[in-house]
Amino acid sequence: MNLITKTKNYLNRRIFRTPGVEFFDNNKDINARKKYINFWLNRSRKKKSFQKYFFQKINNKNSQISYDNNDYVINQDMLDSLSNNGLLIIKNALPENEKNKIIEYFDELKGNNQYGKNWINKPHNPGFFKEVNEIMGKTYIKNFEYLNYYSKQFSKEIYGKIVEPTVELRYLKQDNDSKESKVKGATYLHTDRFLPHVKIYYTPYEITINDAPLEYVLSSHKINDNFIDFYLETRNYDETDKLFKNFNFEKKVVCVPQNSLYVAFTNGFHKRSQFNNLSERSLVFLQYVERFNKIDYLFW
Ligand SMILES: [Fe+2]
Repeated sequence: MNLITKTKNYLNRRIFRTPGVEFFDNNKDINARKKYINFWLNRSRKKKSFQKYFFQKINNKNSQISYDNNDYVINQDMLDSLSNNGLLIIKNALPENEKNKIIEYFDELKGNNQYGKNWINKPHNPGFFKEVNEIMGKTYIKNFEYLNYYSKQFSKEIYGKIVEPTVELRYLKQDNDSKESKVKGATYLHTDRFLPHVKIYYTPYEITINDAPLEYVLSSHKINDNFIDFYLETRNYDETDKLFKNFNFEKKVVCVPQNSLYVAFTNGFHKRSQFNNLSERSLVFLQYVERFNKIDYLFW
């Protein structure tokens, strides 16, 4: 990596990154919070594509969440469902050869510390969990043609332009056969940020109830008075906060067959379920906050 790329990456990661919950950590005062939330949400509301997904009221007609692959094309039904539910599942998502390519990447993460694939840097354990081993590797979206095709369609639709995602492959393995204890920011129902936020996930393998599936509180991504009130008072950004009681919505545990892709708006409430058994999970995460950032909010 040359110096210009390194500097650009640093600025994207540290300086221009979409605002997160840091401000709320340091400011408990409701008026200060109100000002901050209003400022950034006003910028968000100006974005036409955000209107549909995050600000428009729910239309109850559309309750189907899970769809079969439609020649890798995201159709209007799927998008309406995503807008209403904050969650969308696509089964048989990738062609067999691309699924196998992704499995080869995971095999390296599971393997013996020999990293020959196109990793951005050496995969490592980010150290979030005590009872679960994790190895995370970052790579480039251009390595995966069809995943990239999905990513382009979703980012164009949601962010109003094609945004290059960060691509993280995370391999989790639980080594004991008891139920894992809860971890803040992961296995408690929580929100990632107060601004529109999307994560795209892909799994080459089946995910069952024992393999720490995502759990999502349907429609909790809509930014309305309820959502804003929660952020005015929150201490933990999760289910332990008093106003979480206002999000008593239907929950969906995302157990999926092999070769599934799913999309979740994670400014809404979600968690990784706890591991329940000797088990493992291989999941690709696409995120857009590094390259759709403060500059996009302030200057579009
Ligand atoms: Fe999260």
